[in-house]
Amino acid sequence: MTDMAIPMIEMNDGHRIPQLGLGVWQDNDEQAAAAVRCALQAGYRLVDTASIYENEAGVGAGVRESGIERAEVFITTKIWNADQGYQAAQDALHASLERLGMDYVDLLLIHWPVPSRDLYVDTWRALIKLREQGLARSIGVSNFRADELHRLFKETGQLPAVNQIELHPWLQQAELRTANGVHGVRTQAWSPLGQGKVLADPLIAGLAAKHAKEPAQIILRWHIQHGVLVIPKSSNPERIRANADLFDFALDEDDMAALAELDRGERIGPDPDTFGA
Ligand code: A2P
Repeated sequence: MTDMAIPMIEMNDGHRIPQLGLGVWQDNDEQAAAAVRCALQAGYRLVDTASIYENEAGVGAGVRESGIERAEVFITTKIWNADQGYQAAQDALHASLERLGMDYVDLLLIHWPVPSRDLYVDTWRALIKLREQGLARSIGVSNFRADELHRLFKETGQLPAVNQIELHPWLQQAELRTANGVHGVRTQAWSPLGQGKVLADPLIAGLAAKHAKEPAQIILRWHIQHGVLVIPKSSNPERIRANADLFDFALDEDDMAALAELDRGERIGPDPDTFGA
């Protein structure tokens, strides 16, 4: 259980989003349901899934089994690359809602821009319509670059509430975080722990010893202090709990400066320029 509540962050559409949530990538339905029950018990109120994860049914079941009201939980899902386009994206959300067993999601994202297909503006228009219909309370994107955000705004007059990007100490994305911030788009980090690979970095181990915290807590706290939203993934109950226990300590300026030095501009996941082409 966390010592202090997870902060709520206001988005550019006036809705609020928990700064920390549970990621469920690579979980099957059963694992996702168990992780969601555990996380909600530990004080999490956000779960991040996607149609491509094929565990939306498990997420929905986990929420219902938790005994926590649907209205108290923030659910994100995403439109997969194959479902881009004005009609296909709308159909895809309807299918996601059916699997989730829910009548709306709190946040709907375009999973990848797929610039080679050039459908993301049409897909964005579909998300705007789904928001008007109340099927998605907030809408956003994932893996978009600054020029793609500009184009959405130029062509539709609407900016995403969130841009969810790969972000961790080895890929700090300072420019893109600034571009998001200038437009009031909240930055959310996927793979905030670098898929667990950054945990073994010796500098992180040193800071963990200094603060009597775990390496994962150091990395997640670094994100939090940058104002970034995080969705760490874990299937392990102890680690799920530890990942939300971040609000009773702070990294100092020297810690933050040392962590800034870890940036290698190195992706662990796919490149948005070519992925889905
Ligand atoms: P597990 O599910 O066994 O806990 P990311 O969110 O950056 O993609 O990282 C997820 C990976 O990091 C998973 O392999 C997860 O494994 C591992 N992980 C998550 N939380 C922790 C933690 N507190 N300590 C160690 N490993 C963790």
